[in-house]
Amino acid sequence: MLTRSEPGTRIQERPDPEEAAGRLRATGISVSFAGLRALDDVDLELRSGEILGLIGPNGAGKSTLVNTLTGFQRCTGRLVVDGVDMTGSSPPRLSRSGVRRTFQNVRLFPAMTVYENVEVVGLGLGMGHRKVRALAEDVLDRFGMSHLSATSAGSLPYGIERRLGIARILVGGARYVLLDEPAAGLNEDESDELLELLTRLPEMFSCGLMVIEHDLRLIMRLCHRLQVIDHGRVLAVGDPAIVRRDPAVVEAYLGHDRAGGEVLGAADR
Ligand SMILES: Nc1ncnc2c1ncn2[C@@H]1O[C@H](COP(=O)(O)OP(=O)(O)OP(=O)(O)O)[C@@H](O)[C@H]1O
Ligand SMILES: [Mg+2]
Repeated sequence: MLTRSEPGTRIQERPDPEEAAGRLRATGISVSFAGLRALDDVDLELRSGEILGLIGPNGAGKSTLVNTLTGFQRCTGRLVVDGVDMTGSSPPRLSRSGVRRTFQNVRLFPAMTVYENVEVVGLGLGMGHRKVRALAEDVLDRFGMSHLSATSAGSLPYGIERRLGIARILVGGARYVLLDEPAAGLNEDESDELLELLTRLPEMFSCGLMVIEHDLRLIMRLCHRLQVIDHGRVLAVGDPAIVRRDPAVVEAYLGHDRAGGEVLGAADR
């Protein structure tokens, strides 16, 4: 950011302390689809080392927000990553700067091996084969999946397939990891294993983690902060224990999703 030091002296490039390293910050994000305001002046901050839950009823704008943060969706507003203005950047550029995401529906290559599914992401980021090999082996090792390297991805149990879907986007290092419904379709045991993995992820990869999830019990056990959106607007953000009791949040869930409203409204769970 440009700052003027003394009157008459030259303008200098200086990092803005508010926007310095260690956070992804989106401000005033708006997106419209043919008259539908999918996001309306949304702010979001993800800090390195934290786990942020992004929740909201169906159609709230959660996936659209991930799409804007990763360059897949044009928007108005500003995106700053580690103090660098990345507004309007392409998905590959954001990915290279460490902003990584999964999609709501798994997108693995079933005919390829586990290793190849990781390798293809690294090659797509422009890394050479030798470098990708080392990085892919490293990420599979950290995920406890090295022994599955040569297994065809299409033959994996569903829970492991979802885990591979996360592992592959971390190849080469990630700063901010955005997961869109990673627990969808998992049974209770698989969901518990995912919780254990995600809890360790920020420390394992020195990254910030944002998780979109309808499984509110998982979100409540996992997240350090919660942000709630509904109809494209931010309803609440902050400490999960406080946000879960926010009347507007409980009301938004009760209106769309009674089970979700009950989880949020329950005082002592
Ligand atoms: N490409 C698109 N074209 C038109 N409308 C869209 C498009 N993508 C999303 N929408 C609309 O924008 C709104 C927000 O959608 P979005 O997928 O972001 O919601 P969501 O919070 O991720 O919902 P869910 O929990 O069901 O995944 C919805 O009304 C959706 O129908
Ligand atoms: Mg979605």
